[in-house]
Amino acid sequence: MSLDNNRITSIPEFYNGKSVFITGGTGFLGKVLVEKLLRSCPGIENVYLLVRSKKDKSVNERLKELTNSQVFNTLREKDPQAISKIVLIEGDITKLDLGISEENRELLATKVSVIFNSAANIKFDDSLKGVINANLRSLRELIKLSRQVKDLKSFIHISTAYSNWYQMDVGEQFYPAAFDPHYIIDLCNSSSDDQINEVAEMLLGKHVNTYTFSKALAEDLISRIARDLPIAIVRPSTASWKVAQDRHQKLAISAPTIYNSVSGNSNPLKIKNYFYFLRDAGRRNPTNMMSWYPQTRLYKTKFSNDIDIFWTHFIPAFLSDSYAKMKGENGRALKHLENSKHAFDQIRFVLNSPIKMYGKNYKKVLESMNKSDQKDFNFDPTTINWKNYFDSYHFGVRKFIFNDKSVGSVAAQRKFAKLKYMNYILSGSIVAFSLIAVTKLGNKIIRKNEENENVSSFK
Ligand SMILES: NC(=O)c1ccc[n+]([C@@H]2O[C@H](COP(=O)([O-])OP(=O)(O)OC[C@H]3O[C@@H](n4cnc5c(N)ncnc54)[C@H](OP(=O)(O)O)[C@@H]3O)[C@@H](O)[C@H]2O)c1
Repeated sequence: MSLDNNRITSIPEFYNGKSVFITGGTGFLGKVLVEKLLRSCPGIENVYLLVRSKKDKSVNERLKELTNSQVFNTLREKDPQAISKIVLIEGDITKLDLGISEENRELLATKVSVIFNSAANIKFDDSLKGVINANLRSLRELIKLSRQVKDLKSFIHISTAYSNWYQMDVGEQFYPAAFDPHYIIDLCNSSSDDQINEVAEMLLGKHVNTYTFSKALAEDLISRIARDLPIAIVRPSTASWKVAQDRHQKLAISAPTIYNSVSGNSNPLKIKNYFYFLRDAGRRNPTNMMSWYPQTRLYKTKFSNDIDIFWTHFIPAFLSDSYAKMKGENGRALKHLENSKHAFDQIRFVLNSPIKMYGKNYKKVLESMNKSDQKDFNFDPTTINWKNYFDSYHFGVRKFIFNDKSVGSVAAQRKFAKLKYMNYILSGSIVAFSLIAVTKLGNKIIRKNEENENVSSFK
């Protein structure tokens, strides 16, 4: 089925007989995209994935690993043949031409109509040079490749909500970057690592890390060199069908559309509620790996927070490692604490950001979808029930990322109940101890005052 006569085409119809090329298909977001396309768009022809080989694994081993992952369980049951539609394209986004062979470039140019660019280096503290090649130059190379594609219908670039994080109000528009993206690419590739590291801070300007800097430059690059393509930026989500439809109806020739995929103006989630929801989800679905009763205490100052971390994290971790050492084992609690602190420091800018993001374009996409697509491809943030969302988020992270089979089990419930009472006893003891200490101190001060008064009246 085509987009003839301006007829509203359903999403599965749009993908009938079409092939897509996805970068980052082995990543957190990309895997879900690949699975969704194969499961909900059965007429899709092929899904070409850019995959790099890794030290210990060839690309074919990586394909096996990907398709054996639990994300594909439902698809394996429903339509086992669908997985064979995945075709690997060996490459590397940090290389020129994305490291794709001439033969595969030809293949993509003739077969593909939709491109999703999801690959990125998402380490916030990586060196500027590496991040620029992975997140910016790679986009330029992909745009070059997309110009060879004979029947390009849609090109979706996945950016991030924080590409312009220092803006107070982020609308669905381009924000010019402080530097010409081509200049930054050339600079990074004509200077040594040391030279780049020396000027990195100056180049970053308002950006707190190399990641958001590269993402902002990538958006700017699109506004400079790709306005004529059927391209859209998603911060971050998926909207390929709509781009093709708009382009067909000549609605968006002049500027690529930007989709702020956020819930901020329709179903906001405040950062403090994020922590409370997560804590409650942990209490509802406890795990055997819990070392204490989950609690959330939020402080206005970093100082109060640091004191809390010292008493409730550092001291127990220190004691736990010391105990392990006494038993001749290697304690890892302090190392875990250091890693968590490092990870938390990386995202601190997100928590402290004054950013307000507005998303309106997603509503237009939703409104133009038919009822069946609205149900099957639902991305309406107003329909998110945050309590349910965090329950499945917590459950999924424990089960699929930490491979924790105990989550929600009877044994875990028992351990949770024990920890809860231990926490009551400890908190009660701390309160009682503090009351006794304060009373004793008060009595001491009163006695001292009385003694002083007696001495002065005696004089
Ligand atoms: N997850 C989020 O919450 C979030 C939020 C905002 C924006 N985003 C954006 O969404 C996109 C996907 O993020 P993600 O969370 O899925 O990241 P991720 O899990 O780290 O996945 C990154 C993907 O990029 C690929 N990649 C990285 N370096 C590569 C290289 N040199 N050559 C080829 N492929 C390479 C990775 O392949 P390997 O498997 O080989 O490592 C992986 O498939 C990114 O553009 C990110 O900026 C994500």
